[in-house]
Amino acid sequence: MTNRVCRLKSRPFGMSTRENFEIADEPMPTPGPGEFRVKVHAVSLDPAMRGWMAEGRSYVQPVALGDVMRAYAAGIVEESNHEAFRPGDAVMGLFGVQEHAVSDGTFVHKIDPAQAPMERWVGGLGMPGWTAYFGTMEILHPEAGQTLVVSAASGAVGSLVGQIGKLRGATVIGIAGGAEKCRYVTEELGFDAAIDYKAEDVEKRLVELAPDRVHMYFENVGGKIGNAVMHRMATFGRVAVCGLISSYNETDPAKVGYDAGAQRSILVNRLKIQGFIVFDFAKQMREAIGHLGKWHAEGKLKMREDVREGGVDAFPEALNMLYTGENFGKLVLKL
Ligand SMILES: NC(=O)c1ccc[n+]([C@@H]2O[C@H](COP(=O)([O-])OP(=O)(O)OC[C@H]3O[C@@H](n4cnc5c(N)ncnc54)[C@H](OP(=O)(O)O)[C@@H]3O)[C@@H](O)[C@H]2O)c1
Repeated sequence: MTNRVCRLKSRPFGMSTRENFEIADEPMPTPGPGEFRVKVHAVSLDPAMRGWMAEGRSYVQPVALGDVMRAYAAGIVEESNHEAFRPGDAVMGLFGVQEHAVSDGTFVHKIDPAQAPMERWVGGLGMPGWTAYFGTMEILHPEAGQTLVVSAASGAVGSLVGQIGKLRGATVIGIAGGAEKCRYVTEELGFDAAIDYKAEDVEKRLVELAPDRVHMYFENVGGKIGNAVMHRMATFGRVAVCGLISSYNETDPAKVGYDAGAQRSILVNRLKIQGFIVFDFAKQMREAIGHLGKWHAEGKLKMREDVREGGVDAFPEALNMLYTGENFGKLVLKL
């Protein structure tokens, strides 16, 4: 009757290491009045976790030193004093990197394991899917005949952005690292083209693939890739800044940010650039859940998970796969 838990011990400088975490067996938590306990089966590993560990102003409070590492996760209610959540219910929520979590139901969604496996509910049918949906539909507003470029194109968010863009009639170009990921987005997901940024000159390829320039850019990575796409934006182009993963572990602030050419493009092309966090759209969440579920059931949205074994103890190394591109699809830790 113990609970394996991963707590944040110290704040990382650069890439986090095992030394930044304390992983130990703790007594099994007991749900109080109005609470329930979940057996966690799938922990979502998200690029945002690096930001959650850092001090400084952000869109959420950092994880406090000594706290359970924050994580989205899916599992089954095993004991409950809550009227709406009963033993056996499958749920998804911010349960943290631990085997068992107690919750009062805040931000917890019920999920249907018959519709899709646990790992998909923290992936394409969960937060990354909602992110792709809102960033594409509410910020980029894809239009037929226009070109949409998405970076980290084979990943949890990017793979859905491109597919939603195609459903809305746009021409979609994905940027990803390596031939296999590029083949996946074109041949399996139906993107019009892919650029392997590890082997090709992104800007040159955009000149060839999008001679009328880029109308919409879904920014997931920033850095050199972000600059290359910004240089090729069309007049009155739209940019949804979803993430800047290339900078999350960067320790030299001088290496982060758009270059002079990108900044000039903002002005001369009169770009509309909007950063967003998925929960800005909390009031419309039902809409995203409905559309993603329907398109998924109809076979119009393909989703891929990269499920890693090893339990809570594997968390520190598994997380870093996101920043080295070792993951291929939504990265999930199986407990
Ligand atoms: N705003 C929001 O509310 C929100 C919500 C969820 C996610 N996000 C953001 O969305 C982005 C994608 O997240 P995800 O969960 O879908 O992750 P993911 O794409 O499944 O995995 C991360 C991928 O990023 C790429 N990458 C890592 N380091 C890179 C670098 N230095 N340069 C270029 N590419 C790099 C790698 O793909 P390659 O092998 O192709 O390089 C890696 O596989 C992240 O920036 C994340 O922070 C934002």
